[in-house]
Amino acid sequence: MNILENISLKPYNTFGIDAKARFFVDITGLAQLQKVLELKAYPKKFIISGGSNMLLTKDIDALVMHINLEGISIVEENEDTVEIKAMAGENWHGLVMWCLEKDFGGIENLSLIPGNVGTAPIQNIGAYGVELKDVFVSCTAMEMATGELISFDNEECKFGYRESIFKNEAKDKYIITSVNLRLTKHDHALHTGYGAIEAELQKNDVIYPTIQDISNAVITIRRSKLPDPKELGNSGSFFKNPVISRKAFEKFIKKNPQAPHYETDDDQIKIPAGWLIEQCGFKGKRFGDAGVHDKQALVLVNYGNATGAEILALSEKVMKEVYDTFGIKIQPEVNIIK
Ligand code: EPU
Repeated sequence: MNILENISLKPYNTFGIDAKARFFVDITGLAQLQKVLELKAYPKKFIISGGSNMLLTKDIDALVMHINLEGISIVEENEDTVEIKAMAGENWHGLVMWCLEKDFGGIENLSLIPGNVGTAPIQNIGAYGVELKDVFVSCTAMEMATGELISFDNEECKFGYRESIFKNEAKDKYIITSVNLRLTKHDHALHTGYGAIEAELQKNDVIYPTIQDISNAVITIRRSKLPDPKELGNSGSFFKNPVISRKAFEKFIKKNPQAPHYETDDDQIKIPAGWLIEQCGFKGKRFGDAGVHDKQALVLVNYGNATGAEILALSEKVMKEVYDTFGIKIQPEVNIIK
């Protein structure tokens, strides 16, 4: 087992923060993972996978386990549907492409989301009208205290908007090792209702879209708004969209009649944080190497050498300004490692 010392985590987090791992190990098998968890010499352990939803604000004084478990397989299928199993270290977009090649439908709207399969359930990744929970069957996770493999079904994961049990009561207790999804083999349920997708399909004269057409539309939209982490460090939406009561909304909309908003299932109103942040004048603003993206104000970016602390300070400034201007509290969506 190759345990390295003082390794920069810059290549392992999409924000490109140059924090150091005191110890580092690449995990490529389940038996190896079990053995590493048993190592008494390294009592503090920290998991990193795709590193696409975290902000490192300091060096990690622990054994960093880089989850690099690979493999995608078909578990079972019938005429209409297929259940697939993907290991946690598989790249999420790679999995979407694998499914599209086989014409398996269900995750095409989730094209180009950065990160790995194992982190997808933690925040119930979602985009353009689809969330992971819509196709999720179960995941397997290793309990860190015992090395035991445990299965969580869809209900047990307690999915919500960018939420799951793994962000709450199960936080820091499990390492997700694989995810099972149920997808369709024909007559795919298409999710084209999202305005930008409809417009993109129309632009390309697509009348009867396939799942490949939808994926292409999503890729084009994402590329136009969201920075590629390979070119500009970022973690996707830094904040969640706030949800407010109808009463608070009525007051808000009187003052801000042009604000975009969406009804949620439980009679609350979701306001796009990107709009609130833009109204506060932050869009495209840069403070040293930390900034607010110029095409989508929900995304904070690292122009090169920003520290995690600088990005964190900018996020706090944005939250305070939005609160002072609108009386609405916005919360980070990314996992801030303090
Ligand atoms: N808007 C602005 N200014 C901005 C950004 C957005 O006015 O700078 C307005 C837009 O004009 C639009 C509304 O806000 O009226 C919504 O914008 P958009 O469609 O870009 O979606 P979003 O609510 O900002 C969410 C997800 C994204 C996901 C998109 C599409 C969250 C926190 N973010 O963004 O997810 O791709 O919807 O479904 O829910 C991510 O989680 O990393 C992510 C990128």
